[in-house]
Order: sequence, then structure tokens, then C-alpha cells
Amino acid sequence: RVIDATGLLVVPGLVDIHVHFREPGFPQKETIQTGSLAAAAGGFSAVVCMPNTKPAIDTVETLTYVLQTGKRHGAVKVFSSAAMTYGIEGQILTDMESLRKAGAVTFTDDGRTVMDPGILYDCFCKAAELDVPISSHCEDHRFVTSGSFNRGKFSSLLGDPGIPALGEELIIARDILFAEETGARLHIQHVSTARGVQLIREAKARGVRVTAEAAPHHFSITDEQALLSGTMAKVNPPLRTEQDVEAVVQGLSEGTLDAIATDHAPHTIAEKSHPLERAPFGLVGLETAVGLTFTKLVHPGKLQLMDAISKLTINPANIMGLPAGRLEEGHAADIAIIDPNKEWIVEPDTFHSKSRNTPFSGMKLKGKAVLTMVNGNIVYDENSPSG
Ligand code: NCD
Repeated sequence: RVIDATGLLVVPGLVDIHVHFREPGFPQKETIQTGSLAAAAGGFSAVVCMPNTKPAIDTVETLTYVLQTGKRHGAVKVFSSAAMTYGIEGQILTDMESLRKAGAVTFTDDGRTVMDPGILYDCFCKAAELDVPISSHCEDHRFVTSGSFNRGKFSSLLGDPGIPALGEELIIARDILFAEETGARLHIQHVSTARGVQLIREAKARGVRVTAEAAPHHFSITDEQALLSGTMAKVNPPLRTEQDVEAVVQGLSEGTLDAIATDHAPHTIAEKSHPLERAPFGLVGLETAVGLTFTKLVHPGKLQLMDAISKLTINPANIMGLPAGRLEEGHAADIAIIDPNKEWIVEPDTFHSKSRNTPFSGMKLKGKAVLTMVNGNIVYDENSPSG
């Protein structure tokens, strides 16, 4: 079969190192199968799952279940993180050595930041020994427990206690020190604040082994979105101010932020219909990532095209040591074809994800993945009847 890619970009399959596929435990939100279909539709050929499932991915048994389900039912390559502590409760370190052997590509506290410095120190030492990256969630949940949006003008308007930027920045600073002290590789997840970017910039300058990712929603929209989208704009860390968005964009363009990762966090409409304080944090991101990257960064000239592609492919793959994100001779192809000029409107009802929680509904975007290939097989084709 001949694929006509005239005027399109043919790039390595995209790699998303931050997705929540909800299995085991919450199949009503997403399954590994539906999540991987959403990934394929977004141009991604590989993903790294987060461990805040039920049970958490904290044992070899659960990790193996996720990886095998990915192999069996996944449209794309499904890799997985493992939890730093049992139940992501921050109390007892998991058996990192066994989990690493069983295929965990990173250890993370995604879901709930580990606060105990002693446990964290042991975790970083073990990660250094195993040469596996730590992925840090960086949210000080003790700071504010009841806020839904960034603490500032808009949270005040809404009578929301707000989530302060300082909560994120304190943990970024702390974890950079742990990485510096132990020599472990540290990956900062979903950086959302200007001072967070600055802390990472400084750490890199003095040689700390730190990498970082930004999520499309954090470089695309500000905390003002809370007024427009309500619970659909409720995400962790929260959408921040215009200055923060500018700093995240700057961090991406200068290379301080290495990767774009979606933090795809599906929740049901019923859950997102709860009152603000009770609605869960998170939004789906796999099917809008390319559109937002091109519309907000590449087309306006804020990020070079090749940098954008690197941040969606080889950089995240390298951070997690994945055999993905590059095109190699003699290997079956993982490829995405992107139409950089395709204009489309975000319609959540057409998502392949089980969930529709997005603040981007109705937004006009320019740029879309139109075909995804994994191991030489087409797993998504915009122009075929089945999609
Ligand atoms: C995450 C989720 O739903 O799993 N949500 C999010 O807003 N990023 C969990 C979390 O990071 O709080």
C-alpha cells in the first residue's frame, strides 16, 4: 500500500511518558486498550503509564499485569512506571530492584508526593544504584488541601482557597537537592510555574542530572480558563498565570524543559459534574497534544519544529531509556504522520479515549496526527473509514 504523505511530516512515533490508563481499578474512566487507542489517534506509538491505579502499580504482579495487558490489548507500546512507595502512601519503599527487573522504567510518586525525607533519601539512593530515573510529582499536598485552581485572582473570584505555586516549587527545589546529593537521575513532571522552570534551569547549569516535562495545557491556557470551563479546567498542578505560561514556553524553547508529556488523566462525566471541591483533578490530553503543540508553539514561532518533534519523541524516550522515539534502520517502524496545517475543532465526542474531560472542547486547532504506525502496522489512519 502506498501512503501519500505529500506536504505532511513523517516523524518517529510520538512518546508520551506521562499517562494515566486507570487499569487496574477504574475501567469506567479508561482501560489500557481505550487509552492506547487514544494514544494512537494522537500520533503516539509509545506511552508510560502512571501507577495510581487500584491496586497501585507497586508489586511485580500488578506491574506484570499492566505490561501484559498492554502487549495483548494495546494499540501502542505500553511501558510502565512503578510506585516509589506501597499504595503511593509515602510510608514504605517498594521493592525497587524487583520492579526494575520486571520492567519498570521509572519510579514515581505520581498521585501523592512522598513527603518523608528519610524515605525519599533511600529511594533516591536506590534509584542511583539501579540507574533508573525518579519521576517527581512535585505537589505539596500539605500546603492546601481544599483548593481546586491556582491561588490568585481567579481562585479568589470563585471563592476557591487556591493552590499556591510555592507548593510545587518547594518540592522541585527539594528533589533537585536529593538528586544532587545522591547522583540519581531526576525527572520533574508537569512543570507549571515560572520559579519551577528557573529552579530546573539553575540545577542543569550546575550539572545536576535533572530533566523535565511540560504538559500541553500548561503551555496553552491560563488559570482564567477556570471561569470558562469550571471542573474541566481542574487539574493537578493547576493551570497557572500568564507569566507562568510564558515561562513554561520559554523553558521549552531554550531547552530547560526537555519533553512534552500529556498527563492524560481521564475521569467520567459524572465525576467531573460533581461540585468543584469534589470533582477530581485531571484532563485528557493524548488527542489534543499535537494540535496544541503546533497551534500554540510551532505556528506562532515560539518553538522550532525540530525541537517540538524532539520533545515529543527522542527526548522523552531517552529520559526513560525506551527503545522508541527514533527511526532505526532494520527495525520495524514506529511512525507518526502529522499534517501541520490541518485545521480542526476539538470535539470530545469523537475522542477514542473513554473519557471526555477536556477544557479544549470547541477550540480550533491547526496541526493533527493523521496516521500512526507501530511495528510497521497502521494503528490509526485518519482517512480510513474506521479511523
Ligand atoms: C491525576 C490523575 O487523575 O490521576 N490528575 C491530575 O490532575 N494530574 C492525579 C494527580 O496528579 O493528581
